[in-house]
Amino acid sequence: MGAGTERPRDPYRRFDLPGAQPIADLQQPVLICGRAEQGLDLLPDRSVQTVVTSPPYWSLRDYDIDDQIGRDDALADYVKSIVMTFDKVRRLLTDDGTAWLNVGDSYTSGNRRYRAPDRKNRARAMRVRPPTPEGLKPKDLIGGPWRLAFALQDAGWWLRSEVIWHKPNAHPESVRDRPTKAHETVFLLSKNKDYFYDVDAVRGPNDRRLRTVWDINTEPRRRDDCGVEDHPAVMPLTLAARCVAITSRPDDIVLDPYAGSGTTLLAAHALGRKWAGIELNPAFVDLIERRLGQWATASP
Ligand SMILES: C[S@@+](CC[C@H](N)C(=O)[O-])C[C@H]1O[C@@H](n2cnc3c(N)ncnc32)[C@H](O)[C@@H]1O
Repeated sequence: MGAGTERPRDPYRRFDLPGAQPIADLQQPVLICGRAEQGLDLLPDRSVQTVVTSPPYWSLRDYDIDDQIGRDDALADYVKSIVMTFDKVRRLLTDDGTAWLNVGDSYTSGNRRYRAPDRKNRARAMRVRPPTPEGLKPKDLIGGPWRLAFALQDAGWWLRSEVIWHKPNAHPESVRDRPTKAHETVFLLSKNKDYFYDVDAVRGPNDRRLRTVWDINTEPRRRDDCGVEDHPAVMPLTLAARCVAITSRPDDIVLDPYAGSGTTLLAAHALGRKWAGIELNPAFVDLIERRLGQWATASP
């Protein structure tokens, strides 16, 4: 979507939890401030065509707010909480609906119980790091994305694709005993065996059908007018827009239950879809509202 095809801003409704009433329809976009687990209960059955989301990764970042997921001591509890949230997502999906789940992997802490801030990425500090999960060793790659994928499969989801989001501009790492990590995983899950997938919506290089490795640069962290950094883990707009374009049609409803800075919502709007977003941290909900106010510059 280029600058010449900008769309006027849709009015949206904001709800703050707890205390919000169920929402009868999603014809107008909605932004919910609160826990995904609660916000999803407000939305109507079979209303959402596709989900594009990136929950907090286990033990990787601290979003500095109570009730955030990803800070659980036990990896199994983290997996269980995402699966429970995705059970709620299934109720909301249309019968031919899908979910794109972006998750990155990480390493066990080697029993260090604290991670100092990375100068380039302050949110990578953890006040308390969880112990090494049972069955893993210090320095082991955890395999978090696949543990989650298997659990979702067991819970009834169809696991349809593993996309490797390759980051050509990945930061160097100060490790000398393994390759530098330069990718994350994006799973495509479907509610049923058959689902809506527009194979021609996005083409790969040389107009070939899309392959499972996507080269997309990460976007630099932005600062607001006061020099304050915004969200620490923003998904590139190109990635969100690609997922939205493939598994939804114009006017369909796109959901992100861990909306962060609202990238999925922005992509949905730019592509003429309706949207619903849930985010726990009120500071990020404010950031989403600021980004919504800048629709005209959205250009996936
Ligand atoms: C990886 S970030 C999402 C970033 C987003 N894709 C973007 O482009 O900005 C995950 C978000 O989930 C939020 N979060 C953590 N626990 C949550 C919960 N229980 N319910 C809703 N949001 C939660 C965090 O505050 C964080 O903003």
